[in-house]
Amino acid sequence: MICMIIKMIKIFLILLISMNILVNIVVKSFIYKRRVFTININSQTRCINSNQYTLENLLNLCDTTDKIKSIASNSDGLKYLKTILSHKRAMLYFKQSSTRTFLSFQNACNILGISTSEIRDISTSSETKGESELDAIKTFSQYSDLIIMRHPSNNFIYEISDNLPNDTRIINAGSGTDQHPTQALLDFYTIYKYGLENKKIAFVGDLFRGRTVRSLSLLLNKVKGTKLYFVSPKQFQIKNDILDKLNVDYELTDDFDKIIQEVDVIYMTRLQDEYKNEGINDNEIIDTSKYSINSNNINKMKDDAIILHPLPRRNEISVEVDKDKRAKYWQQCENGMWVRVALIMSMFGASKL
Ligand code: CP
Repeated sequence: MICMIIKMIKIFLILLISMNILVNIVVKSFIYKRRVFTININSQTRCINSNQYTLENLLNLCDTTDKIKSIASNSDGLKYLKTILSHKRAMLYFKQSSTRTFLSFQNACNILGISTSEIRDISTSSETKGESELDAIKTFSQYSDLIIMRHPSNNFIYEISDNLPNDTRIINAGSGTDQHPTQALLDFYTIYKYGLENKKIAFVGDLFRGRTVRSLSLLLNKVKGTKLYFVSPKQFQIKNDILDKLNVDYELTDDFDKIIQEVDVIYMTRLQDEYKNEGINDNEIIDTSKYSINSNNINKMKDDAIILHPLPRRNEISVEVDKDKRAKYWQQCENGMWVRVALIMSMFGASKL
């Protein structure tokens, strides 16, 4: 009888352990899916993946940006803006190079009176003494209310988001080849200024490794009547994980000469060859020369179309194009600062102006 009871307890324990393993697998795969397919991030305290925003969020952000620009147009307004978050501190942790994103965030903080600290050169961080990155970032959260991070990994941003308390705001300033949500927000705002709905929008260049295109496609996917064109040599085409999420009409093509004549927005991008071993053989000669705008083809564009570029550029937009009224990338660059002011304000619940 005792033997029988012990046997039954053993079976029960084995069943319990098996159930536990099964539940763990299911929960982990759910978390993985949440990250990859559906985003359920608290937009108030986190800006991680562009897909977390609804169209209503986006239009509110555009509206706040317009209000901020108007307030900032005189010195009294600028003084007022500087009082709004003067009790907050931000940490800029940039583990990849940056000109625009770093400086526009630093200036956005400055406009709102937020004091900033930074680490851009990892050789100055205690990570060189073997401290884990997660510990380094937990340390930042002891001193700062907001962490703005650019990182070569696609996924580390999710890890820190999961491991830091909600009252530490976290902004993804670029995560590997995956996401650049704040660039997408400023791109979205720039297109909004020229009219959002029923637009044909072409993404041109290295779409395989281009995080800005990935993030912006997910935002434009929320706009009525959008048609997206992904224009590149087939080796640089956008990955299926983004295409799988699109509800709007889209087309993949390598024929830039045809598309340049048809679309309302041309979003140029450079070769992202700082990423090695990402499935592209950079030793293979791929002719990208026809994926550029210059004085020979700009006149094929519609008169009211616009040219955008997240910058930095190489030779995909010739300098002489800068003078054309359709070139909006410098304005787009400036918009980055104002949209980031609006974003930071909204994340601190301070956007009622
Ligand atoms: N667009 C952009 O992210 O530029 P930086 O790399 O200079 O920040």
